Amino acid sequence: MSFQNRTDSTSRTFNEESIQHSTNKDNIIITAALPYANGEIHLGHIASTYLPADIFARYSRLAGKDVCYVCGTDDYGTPVLVKAEQENKSPSAYVDYWNKKDFQDFKSIGISFDFFSKTSSVENVEFVQYVFRELHKEGLIYNKNVTQFYCEYDQKFLPDRYVKGRCPVCGAENQYSDLCEKCGSIPNEILDPKCSICERPPVKRNSLHYFFRLSSFSVELRDWLQNNNNLEGEVKRYVLNWIDKGLQDWDITRDLSWGIPIPLPDADGKVFYGWFDNHLCYISSFATFMKQRHNATTEECQRVWNESVIYHFIGKDIVYHHFLFLPAVRMGIKRRYKLPDFMPTRGHLLLYNKKISKSRNWYIGLSDFLARNNPDYLRFYLALVTPNSQADTNFDWNDFADRVNNDLIDNIGNFVNRSLSFISRAYNGKVPLPGQYDSIDKEGIEEIENISHQAGEFLLKNEADKGLKRILEFSRFFNQYFQKKQPWKNKEITASAGSPDATATTLFISVNAVASLAILLEPFIPFSSEKIWSQLGMEVSSDVHYLKWTHASKLNIKSGHSIASIRPIFQKIDSKEVAKEKARFTK
Ligand code: 2FM
Ligand code: ZN
Repeated sequence: MSFQNRTDSTSRTFNEESIQHSTNKDNIIITAALPYANGEIHLGHIASTYLPADIFARYSRLAGKDVCYVCGTDDYGTPVLVKAEQENKSPSAYVDYWNKKDFQDFKSIGISFDFFSKTSSVENVEFVQYVFRELHKEGLIYNKNVTQFYCEYDQKFLPDRYVKGRCPVCGAENQYSDLCEKCGSIPNEILDPKCSICERPPVKRNSLHYFFRLSSFSVELRDWLQNNNNLEGEVKRYVLNWIDKGLQDWDITRDLSWGIPIPLPDADGKVFYGWFDNHLCYISSFATFMKQRHNATTEECQRVWNESVIYHFIGKDIVYHHFLFLPAVRMGIKRRYKLPDFMPTRGHLLLYNKKISKSRNWYIGLSDFLARNNPDYLRFYLALVTPNSQADTNFDWNDFADRVNNDLIDNIGNFVNRSLSFISRAYNGKVPLPGQYDSIDKEGIEEIENISHQAGEFLLKNEADKGLKRILEFSRFFNQYFQKKQPWKNKEITASAGSPDATATTLFISVNAVASLAILLEPFIPFSSEKIWSQLGMEVSSDVHYLKWTHASKLNIKSGHSIASIRPIFQKIDSKEVAKEKARFTK
């Protein structure tokens, strides 16, 4: 079964030769970690998760794969509830607002989700309860009384973010009981605890909680990690280390009013911990997409899931959940839905070398950024500076402007513009007929022939930064080619297309290199790639988003073809604007 209805695209009339995929499968399901529905998407989210996944999704579509890229908001859990209460909103109205806003923000930076859902969807609630019942039937769930912080003033249990205090590991003050932002540890018991609503010290009370037998999966998890060569070595090593230290069973209950109810009679009023339900939304939203789009049955959804190559893109702060909880739960339901094949895990984006923190106002919100900046500039910059590793990357306004002005505009923008405006001016916009190729032209043709394979190899391995650098080299090569050929000096230019002279050959090859760039850049800067494609006059015959990656290695533009009217695609970032943006971060 195919995910998309894109087979009627004109691109199908071209010869198809798809790049060999490491698994040889044609269906790819891509998920990106679900953002909490409690605040705006910022540059850190885009850099670590949504952009890498989007570049891969767009590339895979061009490489002929049938791609389904799903995401949604993470609506439950204390991170959301605490914020909703602080803003005096009902949790459901609050998450609805953020679900819509996040989706719009993602769209405005060109994140090409096929489906955007939410963990509070009816489908996810049903699926989570189904999974829990199955685990329960298998004897993988048990309950016991645990002591929990309780605020007598607010009359509620205080899980996770409802308690603040001093981190027992590093001594940092004012840390949540479920995570120390300073040292990254998950404290066993926070010191000097305080209720985060009323600031009063809580007491301890007993509560019945349900536990998932995570400890019984140690051997199976170790095998899975060791035998899956697609998982990144560095991440694997520290997950194996956690397993070696001994896994604790996992408390999946919270005494909260907002969450998915635990479907057992003695669990009245209790809900699942957000991390029990959120990753299951990867599966439930894929299934909902299949049901809505293709009328698929549950069995078909399950079969397609199991026949696909599965990628979960995440940031390095949620490795524990994705490499232990997620696989163990799927193992617990007898792998009815298969485990991920790949979990690309990226480091954080730093701002001026400091960790992003919303509470300390040290972040750049995406919609604020896009109010003044081109979405493709951000995509370009982040793709170029983010390695495929857990290393952190730094955002710096000067570097951002330099890379965009020098690498994107002076290199790519310049080549596109000089080629197209020459054709427009000297040939009335008609692509001329090439003459004999000399050795420099032959090198140019060879460069075009090699580029899709060479850049594609990086993209296939999720090394978008290296892929983009190879494409920049391609563009630099053609700027030099143009420079060497000096078509402007050639006296034989005629106003009619069809003069088989050196200038015509140069322009014929150049305009084809521009077409190759439009295709190669689609995963990185889709808005600009579309503009290049339409200035090439190609919009009528086909759409750049539905082409094939391998077309970047063909001569797509024939002589006699008319290009459209030309405008510069990019505008340089002004140093005064940079200074204004920077002022906030260099105080
Ligand atoms: O850390 C976070 O932001 C979580 N909301 C990620 C959830 S990913 C999941 F759904 F598995
Ligand atoms: Zn309180």
